Amino acid sequence: MIPQRTATSSTLTLYVNDTAHTVTADHRTTLLDVLREHLDLTGTKKGCDHGQCGACTVLVEGRRANSCLLLAVAHDGAHLTTVEGLGDEGRPHPLQEAFHERDAFQCGYCTPGQIVSGVGMLCEAAEGHPSHVTPREVLERATGAPAELDRDEIRERMSGNICRCGAYPYIVRALEDVRHEVTRADGPARASGGGREVPA
Ligand code: FES
Ligand code: FES
Repeated sequence: MIPQRTATSSTLTLYVNDTAHTVTADHRTTLLDVLREHLDLTGTKKGCDHGQCGACTVLVEGRRANSCLLLAVAHDGAHLTTVEGLGDEGRPHPLQEAFHERDAFQCGYCTPGQIVSGVGMLCEAAEGHPSHVTPREVLERATGAPAELDRDEIRERMSGNICRCGAYPYIVRALEDVRHEVTRADGPARASGGGREVPA
């Protein structure tokens, strides 16, 4: 869609959790503010608003991104996944279940960002993307095989998500629980995990 523009605003369409939303937003509006203020999707949290904490993590075309750093006007036509699109109370995502079972939160403010980032991270690893701590011999083999996620790998790959309550040990355990189950960065109907049936 071609955005309708004024000097200071544009009309754009975002596909959020498989639903199209057309909004008119000031050019300075971030994706985070469109989600929260225009679409009432408040699961995505505003922590620092400066790209430092990861509370605002969403998936943009399946990749992790800090939505506080992205201008909405630059993402007309983009497909986003927010925590609301991963699962809900009736049918939680396997990683949401693991967070619950492992008690991987206290105040819960960072939790949506941790979970969305965790899903993105597990998919990146499943696709064979290395991290800063991936051993040299693995990099040299460059097979493209799924990355083996030990605790160092998980900590490094989740280092963009800060938890002020210090729930890190339990967050790592929750991610360990589902590290071989989550391979697709989309919602509960299609997420692979927990021995569930995966509808077409
Ligand atoms: S609110 Fe975006 S990184 Fe902190
Ligand atoms: S659970 Fe409180 S900031 Fe992470």
